[in-house]
Amino acid sequence: MLLEIITLFPAMFDGPFSDSIIKRAIDKGLVSIRLVNFRDFTEDKHRTVDDSPYGGDPGMLLKPEPLAKAIVASKERLGDSAPKTVCLSAQGVPLTHEMVETLSREQSIILVCGRYKGIDQRVIDKYVDCEISVGDYVLSGGEIPAMIVVDAVTRLLPGVLGNSESAGKDSFFDGLLSPPQYTRPESFEGMKVPEVLLSGHHENIRIWQREQAAKITRERRPDVWEKYTKKLKVES
Ligand SMILES: C[S@@+](CC[C@H](N)C(=O)[O-])C[C@H]1O[C@@H](n2cnc3c(N)ncnc32)[C@H](O)[C@@H]1O
Repeated sequence: MLLEIITLFPAMFDGPFSDSIIKRAIDKGLVSIRLVNFRDFTEDKHRTVDDSPYGGDPGMLLKPEPLAKAIVASKERLGDSAPKTVCLSAQGVPLTHEMVETLSREQSIILVCGRYKGIDQRVIDKYVDCEISVGDYVLSGGEIPAMIVVDAVTRLLPGVLGNSESAGKDSFFDGLLSPPQYTRPESFEGMKVPEVLLSGHHENIRIWQREQAAKITRERRPDVWEKYTKKLKVES
């Protein structure tokens, strides 16, 4: 998968992309990430990327021209792979496991990171395919949301996770949250690992995990539970 991230702060990505699973995916050639600083697409002496918004609101907005030029350059570079252009935005559609799965099937993605008060709407209208939010709160920029998207998508790419790390039993994969998990020692500060997990009886363990996953999902995320039960009804 080819990823291009359009940002004013490429150095922010150094840490998250130079360790662990994303680094491994890059090293294995399963994902390639190019960071594009859209300040490089300015043409004035001061390399201006922002201006005050029409309508008199306080703060600064990202000007359309440098961003549009940066997006066009990325689209041209990725042309053959028909890149999907995603803008990170608090007004976007909330990111879900289903969206991450859909994105993981793309050949290439351009991620556009906003800053300041956001982006001139005309850039979004003309150049962006979808807007994604990572939650109902406002962050200072789209860089951390872009890292979230890259991390979530990368771990679903074939060959990125080893067998022991496989994502198949993680939360949301089958529509439920993950059940509680335990490792050695059997007893920790007086708390014992549930007996069934020590039994070696695979079917009983599967049933217990399923019950726990259902219980946790019902209690903590009624919205996820409702979606899961609806899907079960449709399938039956
Ligand atoms: C300070 S925010 C702008 C907030 C905007 N004025 C609003 O009220 O929605 C600057 C940038 O951070 C990013 N951002 C902030 N919150 C986000 C969220 N919840 N999800 C995705 N991106 C977000 C966007 O790229 C946004 O353009």
